[in-house]
Amino acid sequence: MWVTVSSELGENNPKCDSPARIGTKFRGISPFLTRLFLPCIAAAFAISLFAQAPKRKGNCIPPAPDQAAVDRGQKLFSQNCSFCHGKDANGGDGGPDLIRSVLVNHDEHGNLIAPVVLNGRSQKGMPKFSLTPAQISDIATFLHARNRYVRYRQLYQVKDVVTGDANAGEAYFNGAGRCNTCHSATGDLAHVAREYEPEALLRTFLYPGRRGASPPIERTRKTVTITLKSGQVLSGPLQHLDEFTVSMYDASGDYHTWPHDAVRVEVHDPLAAHAELLRTYSDTDMHNVLAYLETLK
Ligand code: HEC
Ligand code: HEC
Repeated sequence: MWVTVSSELGENNPKCDSPARIGTKFRGISPFLTRLFLPCIAAAFAISLFAQAPKRKGNCIPPAPDQAAVDRGQKLFSQNCSFCHGKDANGGDGGPDLIRSVLVNHDEHGNLIAPVVLNGRSQKGMPKFSLTPAQISDIATFLHARNRYVRYRQLYQVKDVVTGDANAGEAYFNGAGRCNTCHSATGDLAHVAREYEPEALLRTFLYPGRRGASPPIERTRKTVTITLKSGQVLSGPLQHLDEFTVSMYDASGDYHTWPHDAVRVEVHDPLAAHAELLRTYSDTDMHNVLAYLETLK
């Protein structure tokens, strides 16, 4: 992706170590970010990234987070928080999206997150936790890292996003990406490039199923297979799942609910592959795939 960056980016910002003498064009998000981080080491995570159009003066981009802290935070998050807020913190059945949370975005090193975690919001379904300041700080670092990752992929609303190699994208589609196990260039994705502008197309395959009414909810809805103690098996749309309860609709549309430990539960998430892909794409893969999808006019 070619991104044109004002060479003033980072200047006039007391949070940046030194005035940035940044070149104007970088290829790919990663090298772009890597070079930007250097003059911005001192910047805090809490800078609201949405407010930072690359064209604006005086902004710099927060430094890469401490990976060890992110890993510790991720572990704590998955043990304590993920069953409500989702594995990737982008919302779940029991709690809101924390990646797009205003509170989380304004947090610095846990200063806003800590009170919520320590006191809970019991009226609203958020329990309190006794975690140490260091643990909360690690969780905060994990959340900010997730946020940074998601935002940068959405932040650069650049004109010419289609810079990849369509042939390499096609090879990835039918090879390493295994896209063809669920999609077909002549079936469901035929003409997909007519439906979306390139940027929207990029977002669509990075985050499918997040566009409200479309695609139809059934195609992205989680389903569950329940095996009862008697051996009877039911499957259908998952309605609710937490550590205590599982609820679903069976094939005839009847609603059922059981204590979680009374049945065997197998959840099928049609978008799980996409969530997984999001962790594995390189920027090059991403742009090659986009270039390929763009040929599906
Ligand atoms: C049982 C479900 C549940 C668990 C477990 C849970 N949360 Fe929450 N959390 C919620 C709910 C529900 C809300 C929304 C409360 C409200 O509407 O004010 C919330 C709100 C929050 C908020 C405030 C978001 C905002 O924008 O106001 C933060 C931060 C947060 N949770 C962090 C955590 C962390 C960190 C953990 C793990 C240590 C955790 N939560 C565990 C249910 C949960
Ligand atoms: C395990 C199945 C699976 C795999 C693998 C998979 N997808 Fe998807 N994809 C889905 C589902 C389910 C949806 C959401 C339903 C829908 O929009 O058809 C979706 C949606 C999409 C959409 C949005 C379609 C639209 O019309 O809005 C695009 C584009 C897409 N995927 C591209 C890809 C690409 C590119 C890959 C490989 C890098 C890939 N998918 C891998 C299952 C998969």
